[in-house]
Amino acid sequence: MAPGEINDSDRWAAETEAHMTDEERVSLLHGVMNLPFPGFDMSSMPADAVPGAGYVHGVPRLGVPSLRETDASLGVTNPDGVRPNDTATAFPSSLALAASFDPTLARRVGEVLGREAKQRGFNVLLGGGVNLARDPRNGRNFEYLSEDPLLSGVMAGEEVAGTQSQGVISTVKHFSLNSLETNRLTANAVLDLKTHRESDLLAFEIAIERGQPGAVMGAYNRVNGEPCCGSDTLLNKVLKGAWKFPGWVMSDWGAVGGWEFALNGLDQQSGSQLDRRVWFDGPLKDALRDGGLPRDRLSDMVRRILRSMHAVGLTAPAPPHAHGGRAVVVPEEGDALALEVARSGIVLLKNDGLLPLDSKIVSLAVIGGRARTGVLSGGGSAQTMPPGGWTASIPVGGEGPMASLRVERWFGSTPVRELTLAVQNASIEYDPGAYPEDAEALARRCDAAIVFAARHEMEGFDIPNITLPYGKDEVIARVAKANPNTIVVLETGNPVAMPWLDSVKAVIAAWYPGQKGAQAIAEIIAGKVNPSGRLPMTFPKQASDSPRPELPGLGARQWTPTTITYPEGADAGYRWYARKGIAPLFPFGHGLSYTMFARSGLKVSGGDTIRASFTVANTGAREGSDAAQLYLTSINGSPEKRLIAFKRVTLGPGESTKVEVEADPRLLAHYHPDAQQWSIAGGSYAVALAADAADAGIAGEAKVDARKFGA
Ligand code: BGC
Repeated sequence: MAPGEINDSDRWAAETEAHMTDEERVSLLHGVMNLPFPGFDMSSMPADAVPGAGYVHGVPRLGVPSLRETDASLGVTNPDGVRPNDTATAFPSSLALAASFDPTLARRVGEVLGREAKQRGFNVLLGGGVNLARDPRNGRNFEYLSEDPLLSGVMAGEEVAGTQSQGVISTVKHFSLNSLETNRLTANAVLDLKTHRESDLLAFEIAIERGQPGAVMGAYNRVNGEPCCGSDTLLNKVLKGAWKFPGWVMSDWGAVGGWEFALNGLDQQSGSQLDRRVWFDGPLKDALRDGGLPRDRLSDMVRRILRSMHAVGLTAPAPPHAHGGRAVVVPEEGDALALEVARSGIVLLKNDGLLPLDSKIVSLAVIGGRARTGVLSGGGSAQTMPPGGWTASIPVGGEGPMASLRVERWFGSTPVRELTLAVQNASIEYDPGAYPEDAEALARRCDAAIVFAARHEMEGFDIPNITLPYGKDEVIARVAKANPNTIVVLETGNPVAMPWLDSVKAVIAAWYPGQKGAQAIAEIIAGKVNPSGRLPMTFPKQASDSPRPELPGLGARQWTPTTITYPEGADAGYRWYARKGIAPLFPFGHGLSYTMFARSGLKVSGGDTIRASFTVANTGAREGSDAAQLYLTSINGSPEKRLIAFKRVTLGPGESTKVEVEADPRLLAHYHPDAQQWSIAGGSYAVALAADAADAGIAGEAKVDARKFGA
């Protein structure tokens, strides 16, 4: 259906809203955080309220269900274990999912998230996270997909579609430019609309078109001085105006500053105990009475919510098993899918011939990273408790509202156990890596050493730079000196600086690899699985190579007003490094395999957009998956760098396949806010079929027509 067209959901929403009292209307426009809170009595909640991130009263007499909201992108969360014994599939980081470059995998993850949410009685999932991973220090990048609008938009859109296919509304967030966590409530992101439309907003636009989420969540921060949850520009003009988004905008929890946010496009106040007032209750009613809030706008707010409920199937009679489930459901399906995402999204960054380990390696030192405890997960509202619970929870501490959640949580099973199973001919000894001397001594007497390096990252906090904490660099350097066969496995939510890179043989980026992560890591090291992940973020040599040499707000007291500027503009990630001529440590799109791929036969045609066909062949000796990447490299001779299409292919040894791709024309265009149009300059467009963003690849060229389109 074209945006703006009237359908059954609109009709149902309009009719239902017309039968409501104002009291009922307003009751749909604000929710509570349904968790134990000082001054909030959970026992007063209606019987259908499932403890979790949010609850909004329904209107039962009109068949309008309550909204029962849960976080989010990496699994159905259970904050503080508020639902006793309820665990859920804990997926790897979204960065790992995006590293698969596999939209079908994103859809399947979305489906499992939707099913597991529904099993517990939730009908709104507060994910996925679409913000571009612009800064390698953002504590929440593990919840986001990538630095690229196309990859992020496509993967998020598929995830949303998967969730909603299960009858659960999905919410894309945090709209927009929540690119850092430091002082997120007082941060002002300064970026002009043209640039914003070509970057973060384009990721949201693609995700929304593809997935048609029922809801969008506004961000905590401001953009150009306007609070995102009360931004006329972002909500009224872009989201609802230009894109004709028919669903509703909910606030982030504690991000509403007044009832007037309703005039600027906010439809619902979430987690209202976290705000100074329940603005979207009494004050909104007063505004209606005084004429400040037009009645049409009140109807519009309500209808948007009703429309999404109907469109996603929340108003259809529920099947008998659908609601109220509190059972410990450990679907094997979730376990298998978490494993598949880890296997597909772990990136082999470097391999000087050591991996997969061969049978000559009979003694293995495993060092650090609590590899006998589990694998690390990212923290904050996305923290998911996997089946069997956490193997360790270690408080980290700190200041501010999120400090109590600052706890390292580790998932089993453990790398040591999984390596024992996967590398059966080797004996394994473990050293915690606390003292470089001990680690070095163990490494010296083994055939190979694997150092696990984990860095805890989470919502509410950024990391000040991208080095490894707790003296880990020294441990790696000493181990590498003692043993030429050293492998480093990173468990982080962001890129890592690697001063020891030249002295180690192999490096694996495992992200936060989820509940089956240790198995996937061990299988890749042993060669049972052929690695296929490709970096969804550039790994710079050091954080100061990134657009902001220093973290904005570093060291300032909590809630100090902080301005974030974006010298990279729309050139987030690899485009910044290309523009500046800064060589990254590992480029976007990079990832090694145990087989080899040859790309050939590039044919490019132009016209209204760029279409390309080419062949990918597996020229090695084992099955593997490649992510073919097509980049725009110049327009009329002026250099550009932009991923315009990608395709993951899985091929047996000697097999080849023909791939056809088409570029979204917005990726060839610039946006003109005054004309509210995209425009393609027209002329000669050069492209490269490449292994990654820094690879010259195979060149092609096409004539693209000048044209204007869109809104
Ligand atoms: C986060 C959101 C989350 C909400 C509810 C907020 O702190 O920013 O992403 O959905 O809490 O838990």
